[in-house]
Amino acid sequence: HQLFHPVPDSAPPYPAKRHTKISVVGAGNVGMAIAQTILTQHLVDELALVDRKADMLRGEMLDLQHAAAFLPHTRILSSTELDVTAGSDICIITAGVRQMPGETRLNLFQRNLVLFKQIVPPVARHSPDALLLVVSNPVDVLAYIAWKLSGFPSNRVIGSGTNLDSSRLRFQLAQRLQVNAQDVQAYMVGEHGDGSIALWSSISVGGVPICLGHLANGKKTAEAAEELEEIRKSVVDGAYEVIYLKGYTSWAIGYSVADLVRSLVRDLHRVHPVSLLAKGSYGIPEDREVFLSLPAKLGSSGVLGVANLELTEEEENRLRSSADTLWQMQQQLDL
Ligand code: NAD
Ligand code: LAC
Repeated sequence: HQLFHPVPDSAPPYPAKRHTKISVVGAGNVGMAIAQTILTQHLVDELALVDRKADMLRGEMLDLQHAAAFLPHTRILSSTELDVTAGSDICIITAGVRQMPGETRLNLFQRNLVLFKQIVPPVARHSPDALLLVVSNPVDVLAYIAWKLSGFPSNRVIGSGTNLDSSRLRFQLAQRLQVNAQDVQAYMVGEHGDGSIALWSSISVGGVPICLGHLANGKKTAEAAEELEEIRKSVVDGAYEVIYLKGYTSWAIGYSVADLVRSLVRDLHRVHPVSLLAKGSYGIPEDREVFLSLPAKLGSSGVLGVANLELTEEEENRLRSSADTLWQMQQQLDL
C-alpha cells in the first residue's frame, strides 16, 4: 500500500533548492542556543552537532528531533567525531571553557587554544569551502587562531565579535530613548568584551543622528561624558552580570549568531560588526595580523567589505592599542 499516488512530472525541471548544511561544534549552553535559534528561523536544511560528551549530545539531538512536528523540516545529526560536519556551508565553533563569575575572557585563552588545535584542522579538511564562524572566547584571538590553523582565506573566517556588544548597546540606548532597539543604529567595535569601543558618533534613530544632548538630558558636557561612560560600562558589565546571576550567557549570543548566519546563508549584504582580519585598517600596521570587530558587509562568501568609518583620533588610538594587546598575546604562540 503506497502512502501517496505518484503524480506525473513531479521532479522539477529546474535544479532543486540549494541545500544548506551548518555544523555547531560544542553543544553546550551557547552551541544549543545557536542551534535552536537557527532551527526556528529556518536557516538550515541539515544541522550537525558535535560535542565530546556523548550522552549529553545524543540527549540534545533527540530533544530537538522530537520537536520535528513544530519546526521547519530539518535533518539533525550528531556525533562526537568531526566527520559528521563534512560538506558544511558554515561551521560554528563554540567548544571550550567559559568564564567563572568575575573571570576575564582572555584568561580562557590557553585552555581553548589546545581545543582549537584539535578541532580546526579536521573541520577545515572536512569542509574545505565552508565559512568558519568562531564564538568561543577570547573570540578575537581564537578567530585569528582558526584562520591560521584552517589555512582559509581571511574573508571566510569570522568571529562573532561585537555583534553582541552592539546589541547590548542598542538595548541600553533604546531604553533611554524609549524606542525599539531594532531602530537604533549603533556600533561597538574592536575587541569583544572588556576592551570594546563605543562609536558614539555612529548612533542614529530613524535617520536622526543622536547627539550627547539626546542621551544626557541636556546635562553639562562633563556630566554628559560620565553618562556615556555609564552606558558603555553597563554594556561591558552586562555579560559579567548575567554570568554572575545564571552562570553563563546564551540567549543573546544565540540570536546574535543566528543574525549573522542569516546574512551569510541568504547572501543579504547586511552590515554587522564582526571580528575580521583588521591589519591595515584604521592605522593598524600591516604586520599586525589581528582580528578585531569592524562593521562589515556579509554575504555567502563571507566578509565582502569593511565599512570606511570616520573614527575620532581617540577611537583610532584605542583600536590600535587593542591590536597591540592581541598582537603581544599572539607572539607567545607556537602554531
Ligand atoms: P559550555 O561548557 O556549556 O559548553 C562548551 C561545550 O564544549 C561543552 O559541552 C564541552 O563538552 C564542549 N567541548 C569541549 N571540548 C570539546 C571538543 N574538543 N570537541 C567538541 N566539544 C568540546 O560553555 P558555553 O557556555 O556554551 O560557552 C562556550 C564558549 O563560548 C566559551 O568559551 C564562552 O566563553 C564562549 N562565549 C562566547 C560568546 C561571544 O560573544 N563570543 C558569548 C557567550 C559565550
Ligand atoms: C558574552 C560572552 C561571555 O556574553 O563573551 O559577552
